[in-house]
Amino acid sequence: MAKVVQVDERDPDASVIAEAAELIRAGELVAFPTETVYGLGANALEHDAVAKIFTAKGRPATNPLIVHVCDFVQGASLTDDWTENAAMLAEAFWPGPLTIVLKKSDMVPDIVTAGGDTVALRCPDHPVALALLNACELPIAAPSANRSTGISPTRAEHVIKSLGDRIPLILDGGPCRIGIESTVVDATGDAVRILRPGWIDAARIEAVTGPLDTAGLLGAARSPGLMEKHYSPQSRLLLAVDESDAQRLAAEWAGRARIISELTTSVSPEVYAANLYAILHECDGLHDALIVVLPPDRVEWHAIRDRLTRAASD
Ligand code: TXA
Ligand code: MG
Repeated sequence: MAKVVQVDERDPDASVIAEAAELIRAGELVAFPTETVYGLGANALEHDAVAKIFTAKGRPATNPLIVHVCDFVQGASLTDDWTENAAMLAEAFWPGPLTIVLKKSDMVPDIVTAGGDTVALRCPDHPVALALLNACELPIAAPSANRSTGISPTRAEHVIKSLGDRIPLILDGGPCRIGIESTVVDATGDAVRILRPGWIDAARIEAVTGPLDTAGLLGAARSPGLMEKHYSPQSRLLLAVDESDAQRLAAEWAGRARIISELTTSVSPEVYAANLYAILHECDGLHDALIVVLPPDRVEWHAIRDRLTRAASD
């Protein structure tokens, strides 16, 4: 079983961080908190270390990983083409929940990028993640710390439940502030493309880089992970258009479905996102179906709608 160590987010204990960094340097896996979701980290520069991530998660080798970096200098060192858009985006949003896809350098092993010629880079905005990156002095490849196709973890207990028997160390930094995964953008070309919607929305990215490339948005070839069944609960997730539609669905499922009334759009998208996965983790498997009212089709709800829609697809 994994050793679980609590780390104070405001003041990460240096000896705990040193222990975690030592494991990363030794080619082992460490789960750690970020501002979005918990990550399952390994030395991004070592093929064998990264291979352990795929094994632990049961992740298909065709789905590339995000490489976490401590700053833009380390980020720029992993790409052959640190584009002007990348520089502007990193300046505006790093550290933060934005992942930037760029041409990879030879330093990045093929296993990280699933054989592709681009690498996804992100500098996380979390004191524990940054302390770990600085202590190990390596870039850390880290997908969300859940088994493949499971719900992403926003609490250490979610990681323990899905990977506790497969990894040596889990850093427990408490609940993740944002609660849904980073926005992934392709910044290899002249115009930036959004590959996965996330906390930083299209309007904010456009404000930095100018008009986005929206042709073939969410194209499968560019972001392989978007093709996988993803973020999915064991119970079937049903999306209702409004409260009365939810009641109708509940009646149809005659006692075998539960309306998740904790997820309501009367709260802000921030609060909704921060609670979404924790509530799904709590209810998952207890009912045949879970019913959620889909938030309005407005830009601030876009990433949440994306995750719900994907969790609901079978
Ligand atoms: O917030 C996050 O992004 C979290 C935390 C841990 O940083 N990580 C995360 O990783 O969500 P993961 O592996 O669950 O999702 C990474 C997404 C996948 O959809 C993957 O296909 C895409 O990023 N991706 C990775 N490398 C890529 C690349 N070179 N080109 C296009 N998409 C890429
Ligand atoms: Mg994931």
